[in-house]
Amino acid sequence: MILFRTGTKVPARSQLYALGVCSDDNADWPKGLDWGVLEGRGFEAKVGQVEIVSGDECPIAVVGLGQQDKITLREVRHAGASLARAAKRMSRIAVSVTDKVPENLERTEALRALVEGIVLGAYSYGDCKSTHKPNELSSVCVVGPGGKAVTHALEQGRRVAEAVCFARNLVNEPGGSLTPTKFADIAKEVAAREGLEVTVLDLEAISEAKMGGLLGVNRGSEQPARFVELCYSPSSEYQCRGSVALVGKGLTFDAGGLSIKTSAGMMTMKCDMSGGAAVLGVMSAVAAVAPPVKVTGYIPMTDNMLGGDATRPGDVLTMASGKTVEVLNTDAEGRLVLADALERACLAQPDAIVDLATLTGACVVALGPKVAGLMGNNEAWLNQLVDAGDRAGERVWRLPLPKDYKSQLDSSVADIKNIGGPHGGALTAGLFLSHFVDERVPWAHLDIAGPAFVDSEEGEIAKGGTGFGVRMLLDALVNFEPPAVDSKAVCGVG
Ligand code: BES
Ligand code: MN
Ligand code: ZN
Repeated sequence: MILFRTGTKVPARSQLYALGVCSDDNADWPKGLDWGVLEGRGFEAKVGQVEIVSGDECPIAVVGLGQQDKITLREVRHAGASLARAAKRMSRIAVSVTDKVPENLERTEALRALVEGIVLGAYSYGDCKSTHKPNELSSVCVVGPGGKAVTHALEQGRRVAEAVCFARNLVNEPGGSLTPTKFADIAKEVAAREGLEVTVLDLEAISEAKMGGLLGVNRGSEQPARFVELCYSPSSEYQCRGSVALVGKGLTFDAGGLSIKTSAGMMTMKCDMSGGAAVLGVMSAVAAVAPPVKVTGYIPMTDNMLGGDATRPGDVLTMASGKTVEVLNTDAEGRLVLADALERACLAQPDAIVDLATLTGACVVALGPKVAGLMGNNEAWLNQLVDAGDRAGERVWRLPLPKDYKSQLDSSVADIKNIGGPHGGALTAGLFLSHFVDERVPWAHLDIAGPAFVDSEEGEIAKGGTGFGVRMLLDALVNFEPPAVDSKAVCGVG
């Protein structure tokens, strides 16, 4: 864990002092630095550039922030992450990185973003490496005025970023190691530590709840499924602005089932519980962030394997809602487990639901590895999530749920089938989910198949599991306004 504090000057034991530099403040570059050396190394103060040079008291890191009037929280986070990587063999550093941020950015917000960037940039997954050398950063002194608001900002930034790192660790753990049983046990530990209510349904309880989707997907596996429910209630009733349900796809490994994936397609499929990891990540920090809403997390957990009694293409499942689904492709399993989870979430009549799922390759084709697809039935709720993503630095893009695509899910033997036509796969997956959502509940669906797991690091994003969703959901909870029910817009193009 990295400790953050404020100080009026650079502490004597600092091993590095980091200064923020803008590309357009030539006249005002810190004194006493050898700019010839920096220029020789190609330092142009671009965002993410960091160079370490000698200084009077201790070495100095110049941290690029780019053009001053273009600095947003995104640039500050990125700079923080680059600094943490450059300082990975140092334990105590001092920073004056945010002194140059424009006045329209609040200092506390900028410091919070800096802390997020530092913690996220210091992350690496090393549990499976015998030679792992973790980042050694342990103490950061923010030089400048302190006070309650600053301390709070530092603490919030750290807690949120640690929740992201926790989600990343879950995603990066191999599928044969993080079984549904272990995942559920970790959820119980989080609940005990954070003072949350928790319920774990085992296979028997899942059968009793008639979760035919989760059971159908679990049928090919040696590992029993779990269904986890976690709940946070704000401490003072009168401050409570409502209730939000978070639903996360928790496929600890997706081999595709009998509709087996290719070897290449399977390589990254330990990431198929990223939605569940994000929900558990949010729950791990929700008490610290203390949003004025009741928050319930629902995570259906199973892997999707090919055992001798696995669900066969053509089998029909009866879901928790009573609807029947003809499974024509066992690799479209996420929607089956989410259907049961959404049904259960709706029964509690929350003021809003958001589900997160690595649901479709089609969404990756459409939006690539940095942007999640956002669909749903309520403009106001979708807008809140778009705004939260903007503030938190996670990119989402609205996709439609065209009513007239719904017929692609018509089945000749059951109520619906689990795959649509060859095109628009992210949308037909969203439409499938809409069958299990009560029209009166504002609902959003985030397809995070692209940004949940990436093959290169960039800014505060690490290679592998990214923890996508944790930051924007925590922000959305803090700023939550109960959306008015908007039944006209259900599944419309928009
Ligand atoms: N988990 C996959 C989706 C996925 C693909 C996530 C790539 C991350 C990266 C999902 O269960 C799946 O297999 N979806 C199928 C659906 C199809 C069979 C209708 C897909 O996208 O190919
Ligand atoms: Mn699949
Ligand atoms: Zn999947």
